[in-house]
Amino acid sequence: MLKAVVHTDWTTGTINRNLYGHFAEHLGRCIYEGLWVGEDSPIPNTDGIRNDVLEALRKLHIPVLRWPGGCFADEYHWRDGIGPRESRKEMINTHWGGVVENNHFGTHEFFRLCELIGAEPYICGNVGSGTVQEMSEWLEYMTFDGESPLANLRRQNGRDKPWKLAYFGVGNENWGCGGNMLPEHYADLYRQYQTYCRQYGDNKLYKIAGGANSDDYRWTEVLMQKAAGQMDGLSLHYYTVPGTWQEKGSATEFGAEEYARTLVRAFHMDELLTRHSTVMDRYDPQKRVGLIVDEWGDWFDAEPGSNPGFLFQQNTMRDALVAAIHFHLFHKHCDRVRMANIAQMVNVLQAVVLTEGDRLLLTPTYHAFQIYAVHQDAEALALHGEFGSYTAGQDSAAMPQVGATASRKDGVIHVSLYNLHPEKPADIALELRGSNVRYECSGQLLAGDSIHAANTFSDPGRVVLKPLDSIEPIESGFAVKLPPASVATIRFAM
Ligand code: AHR
Repeated sequence: MLKAVVHTDWTTGTINRNLYGHFAEHLGRCIYEGLWVGEDSPIPNTDGIRNDVLEALRKLHIPVLRWPGGCFADEYHWRDGIGPRESRKEMINTHWGGVVENNHFGTHEFFRLCELIGAEPYICGNVGSGTVQEMSEWLEYMTFDGESPLANLRRQNGRDKPWKLAYFGVGNENWGCGGNMLPEHYADLYRQYQTYCRQYGDNKLYKIAGGANSDDYRWTEVLMQKAAGQMDGLSLHYYTVPGTWQEKGSATEFGAEEYARTLVRAFHMDELLTRHSTVMDRYDPQKRVGLIVDEWGDWFDAEPGSNPGFLFQQNTMRDALVAAIHFHLFHKHCDRVRMANIAQMVNVLQAVVLTEGDRLLLTPTYHAFQIYAVHQDAEALALHGEFGSYTAGQDSAAMPQVGATASRKDGVIHVSLYNLHPEKPADIALELRGSNVRYECSGQLLAGDSIHAANTFSDPGRVVLKPLDSIEPIESGFAVKLPPASVATIRFAM
């Protein structure tokens, strides 16, 4: 029997709620169709944002939402997205499919979306093709309370009070689509641009510098050395790709080895968080600067028949397990990692919601977010155990068969577990050590009938949450049986 021992008297840090953040870019059908349909749409909406998606997103308790990109952020000019919609300037979305962007979803619509789902806004500014003045004026437009031409323009456009905006990114992927810069150059620009990101009134900005691509530790080193004092957060992007960038692999058609390779690549996030944190520790031993993983998730080949520039992919139990692996790693590194944003929210990459016309479905990743939301703002608990091992044959790297993470909030302990094995169930002895309280427990289980199980528009209820009924009290605690390729969260209350 495998084993997980939770030390209920030993906390290892606070799990920042923002680790469960999301990302929505002007890309494919994420903003348009997925979120925004416009006020005149036959699809029921609130101020242009579709009601079915809003209802689904509200249930996830999304703490923070990043917008407008991504690569799009460094070619976005905010003035094009304000004022009467019919007279907003059009542009070509050169990064994503070369389609016409009508700018109907802009600053006001984004803040309304955040308000409707209860998320904090996280806006990414344009360094790659925008000026210091443009960035500075956007902040004035959004957050200045007094009399000024820009605050008055905001009022003229229907918003009297300034919005509260904490999270602001100074550029995106400036080593690539955000300007192809060298770290030294970007570090200088970061220092310059952030100088004019003013804090108006009681609006306190949390400034996030554009960070490294995956294992580019030198980028982190240079940014920390030259600009740590001017930033609150430094970002990191890493995508789980089972194949190569040219041939990433199918979202739905994969064999046992490709399944295992995907999970191994998701675990690579552990090494990235450890090593980027180690670099940051050298310049910031107090851990003031947060590591902000503002893009993560599975990236597969676009669904056959869809526009390759729209990055639309299906989502299976494999994605739910990749999400669970990430959540456990974010908890493990919660002393340094303060925010993470899955890419992306709707219809793009590892989405939690897919839409087709007026229909919507919830993906397995959605349900993973649903059962892990209880860990937001909780105290992480130390844990050890025997987690077994799983490989998909000789050429596959080994990984633990089972993973566990635990936290406590308001006297309630939650333990989340996953079983990565595609065929074997996992029998786990779960012990809550360090307390002699008797706990009542109940759990929720996410399991499909195979690793390929997905929700489709013809069968939207194939992967759903169910009560976890395989928990039995035993002498040392509880015996839990997890089906193959499954995820569960168990609640222990006194
Ligand atoms: O999420 C898709 C793209 O991936 C983002 O626009 C970019 O930042 C990253 O390369």
